[in-house]
Amino acid sequence: MENGTKLDRGFTLWFTGLSGAGKTTVAEIVEHELRDRAGTVEVLDGDIVRTNLSKGLGFSREDRDTNVLRIGFVANLLTRNGVPVIVSAISPYKEARDQVRRDIGEDFIEIFVDCPVEVCAERDVKGLYAKAYSGEIPEFTGVSDPYDLPAAPELTLRTNEEEPADSARRVIAKLEELGYLEPAKEYGRRAS
Ligand code: ADX
Repeated sequence: MENGTKLDRGFTLWFTGLSGAGKTTVAEIVEHELRDRAGTVEVLDGDIVRTNLSKGLGFSREDRDTNVLRIGFVANLLTRNGVPVIVSAISPYKEARDQVRRDIGEDFIEIFVDCPVEVCAERDVKGLYAKAYSGEIPEFTGVSDPYDLPAAPELTLRTNEEEPADSARRVIAKLEELGYLEPAKEYGRRAS
């Protein structure tokens, strides 16, 4: 499919989902592919943003919304200057996600990283679910704090049913379909 209209535009790939669902894992693969294909890419990861831009914020609804809106603000600045942006943040509240969607407009691409909480807890990569279930960590998303399901994400990844590389491939295919990337003859090779 030829669609030259958006090849020079920025966009925000917004990965939302539970802790341990695989947002960062898939985002890292997509980041490498985009660096290869588009040249530039910027990543805003909740865990990292919380060490600087959102330092000091906790996990109340108010603090999470502040975090998400700050990330959205930066993503919007970059997007409107032609930069491909990858965000990975739990971003549990639909209202805040929709606010960012309105701010960024059509270049906002929401990717729901869907994975049952039992599977995330089983993986427990950071050892946080054990603490959440024991009550040591309160207000933990999916355990003792809400996660609003995305109503109409541009893409849903079921990370308990497919490998990270396959999920990443589907994200790239979505970008091609939307016209932000030139379809590559072979995934993983430069498009030229
Ligand atoms: S968000 O809700 O504000 O979007 P964000 O993605 O920035 O969250 O940060 C989530 C990360 O913080 C998790 O991956 C986890 O490592 C850590 N964390 C610590 N406490 C909590 C909690 N109560 N709920 C969710 N994540 C937590």
